[in-house]
Amino acid sequence: YEYGELAGEPRMYTEILEQPSSVERTLRGRLDERFGTAHLGGLNLEPRELRAIRRVKILGCGSAYYVGQMGASLVEELARIPADAEAASEFRYRNPIIEPDTLYVAVSQSGETIDTLLAVEEIKRKGGRVIGLVNVVGSAIARACDGGIYLHAGPEIAVASTKALTTMYVGFALLALQLGRVRDLSIADGKRLIAGLQRLPAQIEEILKDEDRLEEVAGALAQAESMFFIGRVRGFPVAREGAQKLKEISYRHAEAYQTSELKHGPLALISPEVPTVAIVPDDELTDRNVAALHEISARRGPLVVVTHPEVDLGDLEAARVDVPKNEVELDPILLTIPLQLIAFHAAKVLGHDVDKPRNLAKSVTVE
Ligand code: AGP
Repeated sequence: YEYGELAGEPRMYTEILEQPSSVERTLRGRLDERFGTAHLGGLNLEPRELRAIRRVKILGCGSAYYVGQMGASLVEELARIPADAEAASEFRYRNPIIEPDTLYVAVSQSGETIDTLLAVEEIKRKGGRVIGLVNVVGSAIARACDGGIYLHAGPEIAVASTKALTTMYVGFALLALQLGRVRDLSIADGKRLIAGLQRLPAQIEEILKDEDRLEEVAGALAQAESMFFIGRVRGFPVAREGAQKLKEISYRHAEAYQTSELKHGPLALISPEVPTVAIVPDDELTDRNVAALHEISARRGPLVVVTHPEVDLGDLEAARVDVPKNEVELDPILLTIPLQLIAFHAAKVLGHDVDKPRNLAKSVTVE
């Protein structure tokens, strides 16, 4: 679907369904298949300057911050540059050390979030270089940055962000690819990732077709007052985003936790009344993830496992949601999509207006 094609449906729902085309727009004209790299002219950085970057620091708020965490993993994995994400709302208040060889990245759908804008201004005041990953063209954050990547997600109206987040992820993949290819990422790996990026729209489409199954899972989760979303390493920001989306519109309590940390505390809360949504990518941690899920199952905690068909869950008792596999670096975004539809259907079954969640505004422009 393109923007506006599904008039009459809740905005959040139409924006979820638009993702195959919004991702395509983010990619358009930016892939160089011959050299296995990305072209991001808007960065205003020469290859020499890209090579001089020693650290990447990503700043955003709410869901943009969680996608920033996914982006930091992409940068570390593909470019082997130390990278991390921080809530922009906290950054400025701890008198951050601004380094000349750090690339600061501000990520924002609206481009008007005051905490992110003030973080950008603080970095610039101290002489740092900031690029933006922003959807709204000409917005305050876009103007304040030294360069950047426009996301081209199209207008996002629903308070709960969906299509902007997928395009942010794609933006980070392009950035990581370009940073990687001026360093040690091989041309073969660059091409592998480009092929993976090109597969994303069709794979997202496939996940969206599984809506009936996701509605069923959402109906069961909506009955619980409180639940966990868990994941580790690549899967953890996915869990954070899943919990955030569910909280925002269904008003159910959802807490994101690292799967590895469960045994250090929250396992005490597991019971038949507290379900867990587990993110299990097909990666080097799959076996450990599955072992942790058995701990939950042994305590009769209901489980929803968001994973890939290739993952063997053995005799684990769980409702399974499968998403197609891509390159391991790109899987987090595919694992995020079902969580959007789960949140949407949970809110719907509870009778909430998904487009007007209580107490929230689309963009937070005052501190
Ligand atoms: C997402 O569903 C939220 N409504 C919220 O966390 C949002 O992502 C955050 O406020 C940042 O907004 P921005 O991307 O416009 O800066």
